[in-house]
Amino acid sequence: MKIAIGNDHTAVELKHIIVDLLEEKGHTVLNLGTDTEESCDYPVYGERVGRAVASGQADLGIAICGTGLGISLAANKVRGVRACVCSEPYTAVMSRRHNDANVLCFGARVVGSEMAKMIVEQWLDAEFEGGRHQRRVDLIMEIERRECGEE
Ligand code: RB5
Repeated sequence: MKIAIGNDHTAVELKHIIVDLLEEKGHTVLNLGTDTEESCDYPVYGERVGRAVASGQADLGIAICGTGLGISLAANKVRGVRACVCSEPYTAVMSRRHNDANVLCFGARVVGSEMAKMIVEQWLDAEFEGGRHQRRVDLIMEIERRECGEE
């Protein structure tokens, strides 16, 4: 799979750990995050990851800031993005199975690297279940269409 990854200054080290994991698992990684620890603005990177996924340039995205919150809020402003903050594997798996999340977010100040790796591995292994969950995801996307207008 092609996976876009983005991060702010709080998550440079964790981003590299996750990039190594993804490459070990055979994925192609599109690094859209900062690579320096100079303070920067997380919305820039959330938007980049969101756009990469929404445009089809990447299959899925991973976005990391201090808490995962700010970068997820930014990614979710891109039409078609369903970004979820997951601080443990159960929520991460359910975000794929029930919510068809296409961007995984977490906080470098919240989860350690081993927990982050487990979250990423299980998120990538999980699959959307469709059925009644498709109807609910469609309802979410319908809200987006009403708010933003047709494309
Ligand atoms: C940066 O200090 C911090 O605010 C950012 O990484 C993120 O946690 C915002 O939601």
